[in-house]
Amino acid sequence: MNPDAEKYICTTCGGHFILDNMVHQEDGSVREGTLVCRTCGIRYSVISGIPRFVPAENYAGSFGYQWNIHRKTQLDSYTGLPISRDRLFTVSGWSEHLEGERILEAGSGAGRFTEVLLQTGAELFSFDYSNAVEANLSNNGEKPNLHLFQGDIFNIPFAEQSFDKVISLGVLQHTPDPERAFISLARFVKPGGSL
Ligand SMILES: C[S@@+](CC[C@H](N)C(=O)[O-])C[C@H]1O[C@@H](n2cnc3c(N)ncnc32)[C@H](O)[C@@H]1O
Repeated sequence: MNPDAEKYICTTCGGHFILDNMVHQEDGSVREGTLVCRTCGIRYSVISGIPRFVPAENYAGSFGYQWNIHRKTQLDSYTGLPISRDRLFTVSGWSEHLEGERILEAGSGAGRFTEVLLQTGAELFSFDYSNAVEANLSNNGEKPNLHLFQGDIFNIPFAEQSFDKVISLGVLQHTPDPERAFISLARFVKPGGSL
């Protein structure tokens, strides 16, 4: 995966990032590296091509353990059933064609909704607090419209009001403060967008 440094915003100072210390894979994509804020100099690791904006050890570790072991169990492409697809479009009321839109998916786990969202054609930014992002990458692979990162709902590295749509299914109740998590997500929806 090629982390697009310029797509993220520093949550400490609002600055932009550059990629440093890059180690490439044979196909030329970045395997390891460091995101460095041009303004305040804060640094975040890129591991297995995925930017990590949170400490490796955090309260969601057991989710990462679970999703990396049972990474396929709930994928529609694995079960052959449209369970995740039906749930996503029923609860959101969104169109299945979202080309040209920017979507933020918070708490993506092993990526069962990521799989469905990618098929809408939207540019998708998916993150999880745990290393379940590795299961997600393994399940959904590298796609031009997928940007995966390990991050925290309470500290999202983007400009406010910069997404057409924001979605988080089965996640808020697993955070220490669901109300604050909901309010945090709402800040990233464009005026007239959908949460
Ligand atoms: C029950 S799982 C749901 C995963 C996925 N949305 C699904 O339905 O398959 C809850 C997920 O929320 C993530 N999570 C918990 N707190 C989070 C936070 N502060 N920021 C981002 N993700 C978080 C966990 O790591 C876990 O993968």
